Amino acid sequence: MTEPEKHPAAIRREQADPSEQTRPLPWIVTMLLGAMAMWGAFYIVTTPFGEGSDVGDGRSASALAPPKVVHQGAAPAPDGQALYMARCSACHQANGQGVAGVFPPLAGSEWVLGPERVLVAALLHGISGEIEVRGAKYQGAMPSFAALSDAEIAAVATYIRSAWGNAASAVTAERVAQVRAATRDRAQPYEGGEALKASQQ
Ligand code: HEC
Repeated sequence: MTEPEKHPAAIRREQADPSEQTRPLPWIVTMLLGAMAMWGAFYIVTTPFGEGSDVGDGRSASALAPPKVVHQGAAPAPDGQALYMARCSACHQANGQGVAGVFPPLAGSEWVLGPERVLVAALLHGISGEIEVRGAKYQGAMPSFAALSDAEIAAVATYIRSAWGNAASAVTAERVAQVRAATRDRAQPYEGGEALKASQQ
């Protein structure tokens, strides 16, 4: 047999069959990976734990720890405005103007700006019957807020005495405690403005 017959032109044109072989990673990649791994290990070993973070937002572990709760007399002062919004604004409105004929205003009210003792007594026991506020008569029912703590009553009283242009002195929790003790015997709301005024004596 002659050469052209053993390997016809069609076969000689073909490439050799592929065969499997191992192809190692290029040495430069291996070196790079090794260098990165070493750098990572070096970084972890040499980075101090906990304190002294100088990356990210810079806060240290101790700054991120939840605040320690101290239970002895260190309760945060109650927020008078928040209390007002939660407990009073439904009736007296957020702007302290009340609702004409139904809920009296607290802005500019002689009861709010007057003697602390009368205001605190009204908050502790509530009011029923007729009360005159800024020249208008109201005949409604103001609930008692005796369930609030002295500090909370003080905070809300202080807020209404200083909001909406009102400018009367702050009320302390001690003062509230005094009035609470002095009016301990009262079980009913004050029967209107006269009874509330009389509670002064
Ligand atoms: C359910 C509605 C209602 C809520 C809640 C309420 N009040 Fe009143 N408040 C009244 C009414 C009604 C009167 C008038 C009482 C009357 O007519 O006898 C009044 C009267 C008053 C007065 C005396 C009159 C005046 O306008 O100055 C003050 C002060 C007062 N409220 C403060 C507060 C504060 C502070 C709170 C929240 C801690 C509060 N009230 C929550 C309805 C309410």
